[in-house]
Amino acid sequence: MCYPTYRPRRLRKNENFRRMTGETKLSVDDLVYPLFVTFGKNIKKPIASMPGNFQMSVDYLVKEVQKTKDMGIPAVLLFGIPDKKDEVGSGAFAEDGIIQRATREIKEKVPDILVICDLCLCEYTSHGHCGIIKDNDVDNDATLEILAETAVSQAKAGADMVAPSGMMDGGVGVIREALDEEGYDALPIMAYSAKYASCFYGPFREAAEDAPQFGDRKSYQMDPANSDEAIREINLDVEEGADIIMVKPALLYLDIIRRAKEEFDLPVAAYNVSGEFAMIKAAANLGWLDEEKAMMESIISIKRAGADIIITYFAQDVAKLIV
Ligand code: PBG
Repeated sequence: MCYPTYRPRRLRKNENFRRMTGETKLSVDDLVYPLFVTFGKNIKKPIASMPGNFQMSVDYLVKEVQKTKDMGIPAVLLFGIPDKKDEVGSGAFAEDGIIQRATREIKEKVPDILVICDLCLCEYTSHGHCGIIKDNDVDNDATLEILAETAVSQAKAGADMVAPSGMMDGGVGVIREALDEEGYDALPIMAYSAKYASCFYGPFREAAEDAPQFGDRKSYQMDPANSDEAIREINLDVEEGADIIMVKPALLYLDIIRRAKEEFDLPVAAYNVSGEFAMIKAAANLGWLDEEKAMMESIISIKRAGADIIITYFAQDVAKLIV
Protein backbone atom coordinates (compact mmCIF):
# COMPACT_ATOMS: atom_id res chain seq x y z
CA MET A 1 0.00 0.00 0.00
CA CYS A 2 1.54 3.23 -1.05
CA TYR A 3 0.65 6.67 -2.23
CA PRO A 4 -0.82 7.59 -4.65
CA THR A 5 -2.54 4.22 -5.17
CA TYR A 6 -3.60 4.22 -1.58
CA ARG A 7 -4.95 7.46 -0.15
CA PRO A 8 -6.13 7.02 3.45
CA ARG A 9 -8.04 10.27 3.23
CA ARG A 10 -10.59 8.66 0.86
CA LEU A 11 -12.27 6.94 3.78
CA ARG A 12 -12.15 10.00 6.00
CA LYS A 13 -13.96 12.15 3.49
CA ASN A 14 -17.20 12.55 5.35
CA GLU A 15 -18.99 11.49 8.50
CA ASN A 16 -20.66 8.47 6.91
CA PHE A 17 -17.35 7.03 5.72
CA ARG A 18 -15.83 7.72 9.11
CA ARG A 19 -18.72 6.05 10.90
CA MET A 20 -18.60 3.05 8.62
CA THR A 21 -14.87 2.48 9.03
CA GLY A 22 -14.56 3.41 12.72
CA GLU A 23 -12.75 0.59 14.51
CA THR A 24 -13.87 1.23 18.06
CA LYS A 25 -17.48 1.71 19.10
CA LEU A 26 -18.59 2.80 22.49
CA SER A 27 -21.67 1.22 23.90
CA VAL A 28 -23.67 2.07 26.97
CA ASP A 29 -23.20 -1.62 27.85
CA ASP A 30 -19.53 -0.92 28.64
CA LEU A 31 -20.19 1.68 31.32
CA VAL A 32 -20.20 1.55 35.10
CA TYR A 33 -21.25 4.61 37.11
CA PRO A 34 -19.61 5.17 40.54
CA LEU A 35 -21.74 6.67 43.31
CA PHE A 36 -21.06 7.86 46.87
CA VAL A 37 -23.53 7.07 49.61
CA THR A 38 -23.74 8.58 53.07
CA PHE A 39 -25.93 8.23 56.16
CA GLY A 40 -28.87 10.55 56.75
CA LYS A 41 -31.89 11.62 54.75
CA ASN A 42 -32.43 14.15 52.04
CA ILE A 43 -28.71 14.68 51.56
CA LYS A 44 -27.22 15.54 48.19
CA LYS A 45 -23.94 17.24 48.99
CA PRO A 46 -21.86 18.39 46.02
CA ILE A 47 -18.25 17.23 45.78
CA ALA A 48 -16.34 20.39 44.89
CA SER A 49 -13.50 18.76 42.98
CA MET A 50 -15.84 16.46 41.04
CA PRO A 51 -18.56 18.71 39.58
CA GLY A 52 -21.85 16.88 39.05
CA ASN A 53 -21.02 14.23 41.68
CA PHE A 54 -22.52 14.12 45.14
CA GLN A 55 -22.43 12.38 48.47
CA MET A 56 -26.00 11.13 48.61
CA SER A 57 -28.19 9.66 51.31
CA VAL A 58 -29.89 6.40 50.39
CA ASP A 59 -33.18 8.09 49.38
CA TYR A 60 -31.42 10.22 46.75
CA LEU A 61 -29.10 7.41 45.79
CA VAL A 62 -32.02 5.21 44.80
CA LYS A 63 -33.34 7.96 42.50
CA GLU A 64 -29.92 8.35 40.91
CA VAL A 65 -29.63 4.60 40.41
CA GLN A 66 -33.08 4.55 38.76
CA LYS A 67 -31.97 7.35 36.43
CA THR A 68 -28.76 5.43 35.63
CA LYS A 69 -30.75 2.31 34.84
CA ASP A 70 -33.18 4.26 32.65
CA MET A 71 -30.21 5.44 30.59
CA GLY A 72 -29.33 1.81 29.89
CA ILE A 73 -26.18 1.72 32.01
CA PRO A 74 -25.88 -1.85 33.36
CA ALA A 75 -24.11 -1.22 36.68
CA VAL A 76 -23.30 1.17 39.49
CA LEU A 77 -20.25 0.96 41.75
CA LEU A 78 -20.93 1.98 45.33
CA PHE A 79 -18.62 3.74 47.77
CA GLY A 80 -19.78 4.30 51.34
CA ILE A 81 -19.07 7.08 53.77
CA PRO A 82 -19.72 5.73 57.27
CA ASP A 83 -21.02 7.79 60.22
CA LYS A 84 -18.02 6.86 62.32
CA LYS A 85 -14.60 5.42 61.65
CA ASP A 86 -12.39 3.21 63.80
CA GLU A 87 -9.04 1.42 63.71
CA VAL A 88 -10.34 -1.69 61.96
CA GLY A 89 -13.00 -0.16 59.74
CA SER A 90 -15.96 -1.93 61.37
CA GLY A 91 -18.37 0.16 59.30
CA ALA A 92 -17.27 -1.81 56.25
CA PHE A 93 -18.74 -5.10 57.45
CA ALA A 94 -21.53 -3.94 59.79
CA GLU A 95 -24.86 -5.53 58.96
CA ASP A 96 -26.46 -2.08 58.94
CA GLY A 97 -23.39 -0.38 57.44
CA ILE A 98 -23.95 2.26 54.82
CA ILE A 99 -23.10 0.04 51.85
CA GLN A 100 -25.24 -2.80 53.18
CA ARG A 101 -28.22 -0.49 53.67
CA ALA A 102 -27.77 1.15 50.29
CA THR A 103 -27.41 -2.19 48.53
CA ARG A 104 -30.53 -3.65 50.15
CA GLU A 105 -32.55 -0.58 49.27
CA ILE A 106 -31.39 -0.48 45.64
CA LYS A 107 -32.01 -4.20 45.17
CA GLU A 108 -35.52 -3.71 46.47
CA LYS A 109 -36.42 -0.56 44.55
CA VAL A 110 -34.34 -0.88 41.35
CA PRO A 111 -33.64 -4.60 41.06
CA ASP A 112 -32.68 -4.60 37.42
CA ILE A 113 -29.27 -2.93 37.62
CA LEU A 114 -26.06 -4.47 38.90
CA VAL A 115 -24.83 -3.25 42.26
CA ILE A 116 -21.07 -3.57 42.52
CA CYS A 117 -19.69 -2.88 45.99
CA ASP A 118 -16.22 -1.44 46.29
CA LEU A 119 -14.52 -3.60 48.88
CA CYS A 120 -11.93 -1.65 50.80
CA LEU A 121 -11.44 -0.36 54.30
CA CYS A 122 -9.99 3.11 53.72
CA GLU A 123 -13.31 4.93 53.93
CA TYR A 124 -14.02 3.17 57.23
CA THR A 125 -10.70 3.35 59.09
CA SER A 126 -9.80 6.29 61.34
CA HIS A 127 -6.29 6.33 59.86
CA GLY A 128 -7.55 6.21 56.27
CA HIS A 129 -5.45 3.24 55.20
CA CYS A 130 -6.80 0.23 53.36
CA GLY A 131 -6.17 -2.24 56.20
CA ILE A 132 -5.18 -2.84 59.80
CA ILE A 133 -2.17 -0.84 60.95
CA LYS A 134 0.79 -2.46 62.65
CA ASP A 135 4.15 -0.74 63.10
CA ASN A 136 3.08 2.17 60.95
CA ASP A 137 2.20 0.05 57.94
CA VAL A 138 -0.75 -2.00 56.77
CA ASP A 139 -0.58 -5.55 58.13
CA ASN A 140 -1.48 -7.66 55.11
CA ASP A 141 -2.64 -10.90 56.69
CA ALA A 142 -4.56 -9.30 59.53
CA THR A 143 -6.43 -7.27 56.92
CA LEU A 144 -7.44 -10.34 54.89
CA GLU A 145 -9.85 -11.58 57.52
CA ILE A 146 -11.69 -8.28 57.54
CA LEU A 147 -11.87 -8.20 53.75
CA ALA A 148 -13.41 -11.67 53.75
CA GLU A 149 -15.97 -10.63 56.35
CA THR A 150 -16.80 -7.48 54.41
CA ALA A 151 -17.29 -9.44 51.19
CA VAL A 152 -19.74 -11.79 52.88
CA SER A 153 -21.68 -8.93 54.44
CA GLN A 154 -21.93 -7.19 51.06
CA ALA A 155 -23.10 -10.44 49.49
CA LYS A 156 -25.72 -10.89 52.22
CA ALA A 157 -26.99 -7.38 51.53
CA GLY A 158 -27.56 -8.37 47.90
CA ALA A 159 -24.45 -7.17 46.06
CA ASP A 160 -24.24 -8.50 42.50
CA MET A 161 -20.45 -8.28 42.48
CA VAL A 162 -17.69 -7.26 44.89
CA ALA A 163 -14.67 -5.21 43.85
CA PRO A 164 -11.69 -5.49 46.18
CA SER A 165 -9.57 -2.35 45.74
CA GLY A 166 -7.12 -2.53 48.63
CA MET A 167 -4.21 -4.24 46.84
CA MET A 168 -3.62 -6.70 49.67
CA ASP A 169 -1.64 -9.81 48.75
CA GLY A 170 -3.98 -12.79 48.76
CA GLY A 171 -7.08 -10.59 48.99
CA VAL A 172 -8.97 -12.07 46.08
CA GLY A 173 -8.27 -15.62 47.28
CA VAL A 174 -9.64 -15.16 50.79
CA ILE A 175 -12.67 -13.33 49.46
CA ARG A 176 -13.40 -16.11 46.96
CA GLU A 177 -13.03 -18.72 49.66
CA ALA A 178 -15.26 -16.89 52.14
CA LEU A 179 -17.96 -16.25 49.54
CA ASP A 180 -17.93 -19.89 48.46
CA GLU A 181 -18.13 -21.12 52.05
CA GLU A 182 -21.21 -18.98 52.63
CA GLY A 183 -22.91 -20.24 49.49
CA TYR A 184 -22.10 -17.27 47.25
CA ASP A 185 -20.13 -19.27 44.72
CA ALA A 186 -22.09 -17.58 41.92
CA LEU A 187 -21.06 -14.07 42.98
CA PRO A 188 -18.29 -12.67 40.76
CA ILE A 189 -15.24 -10.68 41.84
CA MET A 190 -13.99 -7.68 39.92
CA ALA A 191 -10.44 -7.30 41.17
CA TYR A 192 -8.59 -4.01 41.18
CA SER A 193 -5.57 -6.03 40.10
CA ALA A 194 -3.21 -3.37 38.81
CA LYS A 195 -3.93 -0.38 40.97
CA TYR A 196 -1.26 2.28 41.00
CA ALA A 197 -0.30 4.63 43.83
CA SER A 198 -1.62 7.58 41.86
CA CYS A 199 -2.04 11.24 42.77
CA PHE A 200 -5.00 11.19 40.41
CA TYR A 201 -7.16 9.78 43.22
CA GLY A 202 -6.97 13.24 44.87
CA PRO A 203 -10.55 14.40 44.21
CA PHE A 204 -11.93 10.97 45.21
CA ARG A 205 -10.35 11.39 48.63
CA GLU A 206 -12.51 14.45 49.15
CA ALA A 207 -15.54 12.53 47.87
CA ALA A 208 -15.03 9.40 49.96
CA GLU A 209 -13.22 11.06 52.88
CA ASP A 210 -10.57 8.35 52.81
CA ALA A 211 -7.27 10.27 52.69
CA PRO A 212 -4.55 8.48 54.67
CA GLN A 213 -3.90 10.35 57.90
CA PHE A 214 -0.20 9.51 57.77
CA GLY A 215 2.14 8.35 55.04
CA ASP A 216 0.87 7.20 51.66
CA ARG A 217 -0.32 4.03 49.94
CA LYS A 218 2.95 3.12 48.26
CA SER A 219 3.51 -0.01 50.34
CA TYR A 220 0.43 -1.60 48.81
CA GLN A 221 -0.47 0.23 45.61
CA MET A 222 1.87 -0.06 42.61
CA ASP A 223 4.70 2.16 41.45
CA PRO A 224 3.64 4.06 38.29
CA ALA A 225 6.98 3.11 36.73
CA ASN A 226 6.10 -0.60 36.60
CA SER A 227 4.47 -2.61 33.87
CA ASP A 228 5.76 -6.21 34.30
CA GLU A 229 4.70 -6.03 37.92
CA ALA A 230 1.14 -5.30 36.77
CA ILE A 231 1.18 -8.58 34.89
CA ARG A 232 2.37 -10.43 38.01
CA GLU A 233 -0.36 -8.77 40.08
CA ILE A 234 -3.04 -9.68 37.54
CA ASN A 235 -1.71 -13.23 37.36
CA LEU A 236 -2.11 -13.62 41.11
CA ASP A 237 -5.67 -12.34 41.05
CA VAL A 238 -6.57 -14.64 38.18
CA GLU A 239 -5.12 -17.62 40.06
CA GLU A 240 -7.04 -16.57 43.17
CA GLY A 241 -10.36 -16.43 41.32
CA ALA A 242 -10.89 -12.97 39.84
CA ASP A 243 -13.66 -12.90 37.22
CA ILE A 244 -12.87 -9.43 35.91
CA ILE A 245 -9.45 -7.79 36.14
CA MET A 246 -9.02 -4.05 36.48
CA VAL A 247 -6.40 -1.47 35.65
CA LYS A 248 -6.54 1.82 37.50
CA PRO A 249 -6.15 4.70 36.67
CA ALA A 250 -7.05 4.39 33.00
CA LEU A 251 -5.78 7.25 30.86
CA LEU A 252 -2.22 7.32 32.12
CA TYR A 253 -2.05 3.52 32.00
CA LEU A 254 -3.40 2.69 28.56
CA ASP A 255 -0.32 0.56 27.90
CA ILE A 256 -1.17 -1.57 30.93
CA ILE A 257 -4.76 -1.95 29.76
CA ARG A 258 -3.45 -3.14 26.40
CA ARG A 259 -1.08 -5.65 28.01
CA ALA A 260 -3.84 -6.93 30.30
CA LYS A 261 -6.14 -7.40 27.31
CA GLU A 262 -3.49 -9.22 25.30
CA GLU A 263 -2.07 -11.40 28.05
CA PHE A 264 -5.22 -12.51 29.87
CA ASP A 265 -8.37 -14.15 28.71
CA LEU A 266 -10.74 -12.34 31.07
CA PRO A 267 -12.82 -9.18 30.76
CA VAL A 268 -10.68 -6.11 31.46
CA ALA A 269 -12.11 -3.15 33.34
CA ALA A 270 -10.47 0.26 33.42
CA TYR A 271 -11.16 2.93 36.03
CA ASN A 272 -11.22 6.46 34.63
CA VAL A 273 -10.45 7.99 38.01
CA SER A 274 -11.49 11.17 39.75
CA GLY A 275 -8.39 13.18 38.80
CA GLU A 276 -8.78 12.27 35.15
CA PHE A 277 -12.38 13.44 35.36
CA ALA A 278 -11.54 16.60 37.31
CA MET A 279 -8.83 17.68 34.84
CA ILE A 280 -11.31 17.75 32.00
CA LYS A 281 -13.95 19.50 34.10
CA ALA A 282 -11.48 22.14 35.26
CA ALA A 283 -10.05 22.82 31.81
CA ALA A 284 -13.55 23.00 30.33
CA ASN A 285 -14.60 25.35 33.07
CA LEU A 286 -11.77 27.68 32.11
CA GLY A 287 -12.76 27.46 28.48
CA TRP A 288 -9.51 25.66 27.61
CA LEU A 289 -11.03 22.37 26.43
CA ASP A 290 -14.35 21.35 24.92
CA GLU A 291 -15.74 19.18 27.70
CA GLU A 292 -17.87 16.89 25.57
CA LYS A 293 -15.14 16.26 23.03
CA ALA A 294 -12.44 15.74 25.65
CA MET A 295 -14.72 13.30 27.47
CA MET A 296 -15.57 11.28 24.36
CA GLU A 297 -11.96 11.17 23.20
CA SER A 298 -10.85 9.94 26.63
CA ILE A 299 -13.47 7.23 26.86
CA ILE A 300 -12.97 5.95 23.31
CA SER A 301 -9.21 5.84 23.95
CA ILE A 302 -9.71 3.67 27.00
CA LYS A 303 -11.85 1.33 24.93
CA ARG A 304 -9.38 1.33 22.03
CA ALA A 305 -6.60 0.39 24.45
CA GLY A 306 -8.54 -2.79 25.26
CA ALA A 307 -10.95 -2.11 28.10
CA ASP A 308 -14.18 -4.10 27.98
CA ILE A 309 -15.67 -2.24 30.91
CA ILE A 310 -15.14 1.44 31.68
CA ILE A 311 -15.84 2.80 35.13
CA THR A 312 -16.31 6.53 34.80
CA TYR A 313 -17.91 9.54 36.46
CA PHE A 314 -18.82 10.53 32.89
CA ALA A 315 -20.99 7.41 32.45
CA GLN A 316 -24.31 9.27 32.37
CA ASP A 317 -22.97 12.03 30.13
CA VAL A 318 -21.49 9.51 27.71
CA ALA A 319 -24.70 7.47 27.72
CA LYS A 320 -26.70 10.57 26.78
CA LEU A 321 -24.50 11.07 23.73
CA ILE A 322 -24.35 7.53 22.42
CA VAL A 323 -27.88 6.18 22.79
C1 PBG B 1 -10.28 2.94 47.73
C2 PBG B 1 -10.40 3.54 46.39
C3 PBG B 1 -9.79 4.70 45.88
C4 PBG B 1 -10.32 4.89 44.61
C5 PBG B 1 -11.20 3.86 44.37
N1 PBG B 1 -11.23 3.02 45.48
C6 PBG B 1 -8.85 5.64 46.52
C7 PBG B 1 -7.50 5.22 46.84
O1 PBG B 1 -7.08 4.09 46.61
O2 PBG B 1 -6.80 6.06 47.41
C8 PBG B 1 -10.02 6.03 43.69
C9 PBG B 1 -11.07 6.33 42.68
C10 PBG B 1 -10.95 7.62 41.98
O3 PBG B 1 -9.98 8.39 42.15
O4 PBG B 1 -11.86 7.91 41.20
N2 PBG B 1 -9.22 2.12 47.95
